[in-house]
Amino acid sequence: MIEIIRVKDYETMSLYAARLVAAQVRLVPDSVLGLATGSTPLGMYRELVRQHREEGLDFSQVTTINLDEYCGLPGTNEQSYRYYMDSNFFSKINIDPDLTFIPDGMTTDIDACCEMYDELIDFLGGTDIQVLGVGENGHIAFNEPHGYCFTAKTHKAELTENTMEVNSRFFDDPAEIPRYAISMGMRGIMSSKCFLIMISGAQKADAGYGLLRGEVTPRCPVSILQLHPNVKLIVTDDAFGKIKD
Ligand code: GLP
Repeated sequence: MIEIIRVKDYETMSLYAARLVAAQVRLVPDSVLGLATGSTPLGMYRELVRQHREEGLDFSQVTTINLDEYCGLPGTNEQSYRYYMDSNFFSKINIDPDLTFIPDGMTTDIDACCEMYDELIDFLGGTDIQVLGVGENGHIAFNEPHGYCFTAKTHKAELTENTMEVNSRFFDDPAEIPRYAISMGMRGIMSSKCFLIMISGAQKADAGYGLLRGEVTPRCPVSILQLHPNVKLIVTDDAFGKIKD
């Protein structure tokens, strides 16, 4: 079931999402949060940091699992997802750094790293809430569109040309854009008890359409959420305008 929460703009979407995550943490202080990167959740992280600082929102018992990481980028690289999470969120709240999990983009044994990540997800019993953004082409984490099947396990993903082009805005030199990432697979993602997916901007309308109106197909990975019983979509007017047609 997908509950649609339509909001006027990015700011409202971010506040709404932060309230839902904060409610989860207040109700279950040792929650396991599935977290995402990208520009979409930045406002949500800002608001959660504000609630921590001004309202005492307590993350001391929380565990986090991120969706993905670029291959070949160390956590000290500003474009790595480890750097993004540390600088935008973890360093600004009272979370235990040992309880923040992100795949290791510098691993020398990708298969073992992926296997361990899936074991960790199983050990933690899946995430209590999974925050998600979506790529313009419908990808979630780095599960890119394919003609044949959804990938179940955490895996090394080859990024599509479209994704690399969209991501190129973050890299000074196009040659630095990673071609591969370690991405949680659909089994790990779908093990979440509930989803909070944010879609903002007209360029995401096609992905939103795939989520709400399209068929469930690996050609539009986000469509798999139609099979989950508890999904909240927070969507801004500019993205929704096209979806509802
Ligand atoms: C990346 C990430 C996704 C994210 C997507 C959209 O490819 N792997 O997890 O949802 O980008 O990013 P943005 O929110 O910047 O549009």
